[in-house]
Amino acid sequence: MTRKILVTSALPYANGAIHLGHLVEYIQTDIWVRFQKMQPKEKVSECWYVCADDTHGTPIMLRAEKDGITPEALIARVHGEHSRDFAGFHVAFDNFYTTHSTETRDCANTIYARLQQAGLIEKRSIEQYYDPVRQMFLPDRFIKGECPKCGAKDQYGDNCESCGAAYTPNDLVEPYSAVSGAKPELRSSDHYFFKLSNPSCQSFLRRWTRENTRLQPEAANKMQEWLGFNEEDGGENKLTDWDISRDAPYFGFEIPDAPGKYFYVWLDAPIGYMGSFKNLCARESIDFDEYWQPDSKTELYHFIGKDILYFHALFWPAELEHAGYRTPTSIFAHGFLTVDGSKMSKSRGTFITAQSYLATGLNPEWLRYYYAAKLNSTMEDIDLNLEDFTARVNSDLIGKYVNIASRCAGFIGKKFDGRLCATDAPWLKPLRDASESIAKAYEDREFSRALREIMALADAANVVVNERKPWDLAKHEGREAELHAACSEAIEAFRLLTLYLKPVLPKLGEAVEAFLNIAPLCWSDAANALPAGHAINAYSHLMTRIDPKQIAALVDANKASLAPAEAAQPPADVPQQPEAARKHAEKQEKAAAVAVAQAGSEPHISIDDFMKVDLRVATIVDAGHVEGAEKLIRLALDIGEKTADGQAKTRQVFAGIKSAYDPAQLIGRKTVMVANLAPRKMKFGISEGMIIAASDMSGQTPGIYLLAPDSGALPGMRVK
Ligand code: 2FM
Ligand code: ZN
Repeated sequence: MTRKILVTSALPYANGAIHLGHLVEYIQTDIWVRFQKMQPKEKVSECWYVCADDTHGTPIMLRAEKDGITPEALIARVHGEHSRDFAGFHVAFDNFYTTHSTETRDCANTIYARLQQAGLIEKRSIEQYYDPVRQMFLPDRFIKGECPKCGAKDQYGDNCESCGAAYTPNDLVEPYSAVSGAKPELRSSDHYFFKLSNPSCQSFLRRWTRENTRLQPEAANKMQEWLGFNEEDGGENKLTDWDISRDAPYFGFEIPDAPGKYFYVWLDAPIGYMGSFKNLCARESIDFDEYWQPDSKTELYHFIGKDILYFHALFWPAELEHAGYRTPTSIFAHGFLTVDGSKMSKSRGTFITAQSYLATGLNPEWLRYYYAAKLNSTMEDIDLNLEDFTARVNSDLIGKYVNIASRCAGFIGKKFDGRLCATDAPWLKPLRDASESIAKAYEDREFSRALREIMALADAANVVVNERKPWDLAKHEGREAELHAACSEAIEAFRLLTLYLKPVLPKLGEAVEAFLNIAPLCWSDAANALPAGHAINAYSHLMTRIDPKQIAALVDANKASLAPAEAAQPPADVPQQPEAARKHAEKQEKAAAVAVAQAGSEPHISIDDFMKVDLRVATIVDAGHVEGAEKLIRLALDIGEKTADGQAKTRQVFAGIKSAYDPAQLIGRKTVMVANLAPRKMKFGISEGMIIAASDMSGQTPGIYLLAPDSGALPGMRVK
C-alpha cells in the first residue's frame, strides 16, 4: 500500500531567535522528509511537513509588553524572522503556521469539549502566588527573593543559583514579583485539570507507550520509569492530573464557557500541529479526516527534543485517544547540541544564532552535512566541534565529492562537445546497488550511516579516477576514447552521489541537476544510467571550502551580540522524573524572567547601575562609508579627549546607521556616545564606543533616529 505521511517538528516559541541547537531538529526532520519526497509515488504518495510558531503563554505576553508592542505584533515579527531563518537553512515546510489561529482554536475547543464529555475534565481550586500590582498569578519562576540558605539576593522561586539549594517560593526571604517588584500574595483560584489519573488514561498509556513502533527503546524505558508502570514489580501509577488552565491576564485561547480562564500554552501547542495541517489541507485540498480519524491508515511522526518527551508521549496521545482522534505512529526524540564539547555559551560565542551563521557568509549546507554526519536514531547528544566541522566538510564535500566533477567535467566540455559516452560500466554497479541500503539508513534516521556509506562510494570513485588519470590521458593523442569513458563514468558516479546526498544537500543537488542538464533527481533514478550522447552544461564551481577565519568570525559575532532576551537557554539535561514537564515549562519561564530582568523591566535599577554608563556629548568630526559593509558608517568622534602632547584626539566608532544616514550629512553634528564600552575588534578596525539612537522595535515605524543634545552642549560633557 502506498504511504501517506504527516511529519512535524516541535513548534519554536515566538519570543526567541532560532539558534544552532534548534536547527538540529529542523535539519534532521527536513532531511527525512526530503528523502520521503524523493520516493516514487507508488511507495510514498504524500508526505507533508508542517510546523508553526508556539505563540501563547506568560513569557510571550511579558516579552511583548517589554518591547512595547501587542503580542500579535510580536508574534508577527518573530514569525517573519523564523521563516527567514528556516528558509536560509533550506528547511522546507509545507506549512509554517502559528498556534494563534482559528484552526488551532477550533481543534483545541473540540478536543476540550470531547474530553469534557468523556468525564476527563475537572475544576479544582488551587493556591498560587499573585502579584497584586500587576494583578496576575505568578509562575514560580517569576517570584524572586533572598535565598533562605545562603542569603544570596535576587534568587528565583525554586532554587538558588548561588548555593544550589532547592526550595519553594514560600521559603524565600523578602519575596518579590520579578514582573513588578511587588510582594506576592497567596490566592486561590479555580483551575481546570485533565484527569490523567483516570483508569482509562492509565490503561491506555500503559499499552500505548509499550507498543513497538511508538517510542525509541530508551524513551520507552524512561516512560515506564517515570510512570511506575512496571506492573510486574507491583509498580504503582505515578500519573497525576494535569493543570491545563491559566488565569487572565494570559495570552492564549479563552476556554469556552469559562470567562477569564485560558488554555495553558502546552495544551494548545501540540494541537498547533493539527491547526497547521488543517490550514494546509484547505490550501492543498487534502482530506484532514483521513489523517486524523481514529483508524487512519496514514502515518503521523513527531520529531522532538528529548526534553519534551513527556508532553508528546503521555499528555498528547492520551488527549487524542480520548477525544476520538488517531494517535502518533511514532515519536522521534533527538539529543541536545553541544558546541566544542560544552553547552552553548554566550560568553564563549558558541550560542550561535541561525541568522548570525548566515550573515557571516557560511554555507547552510555545510551545517546540514555536518549534522547529518553526526545524527542517528537515538537520543544521544551531538557535538558540533568547530575544528572538526571545518575539517570534515572540507575533506568529504570538497576533497572527495565535488572533486570528482571538478577534475573530469572540463574535458567533456572541451574535448567532447559536452556530450557523455556510455556510462554503464561495471565498476559503477556497486554505486547503483547501494541505493537500497542508503535508503534504509535514511528511513531509519541513521543519517551518519548513510553518509559513511556514501563517502565510501566517493572514495571508491576517486580511486578509479586517480588510476585512470584523465589529466594525463588528455595529453596523449589517440587516447580520446579512454579519456571520454573515464570522464563520462566519473560524471555518472558524481550523479549517483548527488542523488544520495540530495536529502542533505538540496541546493547543491539543484545546481548539479542544472550542470548535468537533468530533471530533479528522485530515488528511482539510481537504476538508470545517463544515456550515451547526453549533453551536460559547462561546469562551474559548486562549493567552496570552509576557511577557518569564517568560523572565528562567527564565534566573534556571537560574542559581540549578547542580546539577553534573544533565546531561551536550551535545557541542560534529560529530565529524570515525572516533574519533567513542569521543569521544562519552568525553564521557559525562567528564561523569560531573565529576559525581563535583564532588559530592565524590573521596576528599578540603582543610580550606581546607571552611573556605570559613561555617556558623553560627541561631535562627529568625520564620517564615511566602510568598504564591504552594508550597514556601517565609520565615524570619528570628538569627546574632548587629548593625546599626551595635547593634540585633539578622536574616537573611531562603526555605527549601523547607513540605512538612515548619509555620512556627509553627519559631519559637524552632535550626538551622544557611550564612552566606556569595551573596544571591539571588527573586520574593518577597532570600534571604540557606541553612539545612541532610537528605533521602533515593532517595525511599524521603521527608521533609526540619532539622539542630539540641545544647542550649547560641548563635546565631552557627561550625560546623566
Ligand atoms: O519546547 C518548546 O520549544 C515548545 N515550544 C515546543 C512545542 S512542541 C509542540 F508540542 F507544540
Ligand atoms: Zn543560596
